Amino acid sequence: MEPRILLLGAPGAGKGTQSKRLADEYDIEHVTTGDALRANKDMETEYGTPREYMDAGELVPDAVVNEIVREALSNADGYVLDGYPRNLEQATYLSEITDLDAVIYLSVGKEELVRRLTGRRMDPETGDIYHTEFNMPDDEAVRDRLVQRDDDTEDVVRDRLRVYEENTEPVIEHYREEGDLVEIDGEASPDEVFERIVAVLD
Ligand code: AP5
Repeated sequence: MEPRILLLGAPGAGKGTQSKRLADEYDIEHVTTGDALRANKDMETEYGTPREYMDAGELVPDAVVNEIVREALSNADGYVLDGYPRNLEQATYLSEITDLDAVIYLSVGKEELVRRLTGRRMDPETGDIYHTEFNMPDDEAVRDRLVQRDDDTEDVVRDRLRVYEENTEPVIEHYREEGDLVEIDGEASPDEVFERIVAVLD
């Protein structure tokens, strides 16, 4: 059985960066609600489109997100789950549809989160993530095509962090109380953080 890993952390903690590496390392699926929603931002649902929530930094309704996760996990043997659950209702739903082998929480301070998010740039062709200060591509053609996510402006970032504190911090506490949570200091280089996670998993 391949590992089933839950990676928790605030917006900008490095979940996407580390999930990609973990998926390669263990040959498992990277299941991310954020990417799935961004690929379907203008999909009509009975609650409106995901875009209406995402561009304001708010949570997309549980019914929409739960269905995305149920479908993705039913097709995965092992996985690293990133961006879900974001509230206690989603955590309850998750416990009904799967078992977890590891729950890892990347801890990063608030001002560092703001710096990482407002400087994040994405390559629309490969999905690779860069940062204006810490990590830019050498290839000029790649540099020229980088884009900023709509929700990475400073105002929306502050809203996302508020939504995280209100909704998702209780999820962290829930897993901590259950004794399942391993906390990792996420304020180090991506390589160092990756080594810390792999040391826990192995
Ligand atoms: P989502 O896409 O999940 O965004 P998020 O949780 O806000 O997380 P991010 O992707 O912004 O951050 P990350 O931790 O992956 O950081 P990254 O590795 O990129 O969700 C977006 C929206 O979708 C939500 O606001 C909501 O509307 C909706 N949504 C999603 N899931 C939902 C759910 N379950 N329920 C309801 N709604 C949902 O790193 C950030 C930057 O820092 C990068 O530039 C990177 O290069 C840099 N960096 C990474 N690691 C390091 C390091 N160690 N040192 C220095 N820089 C680093």
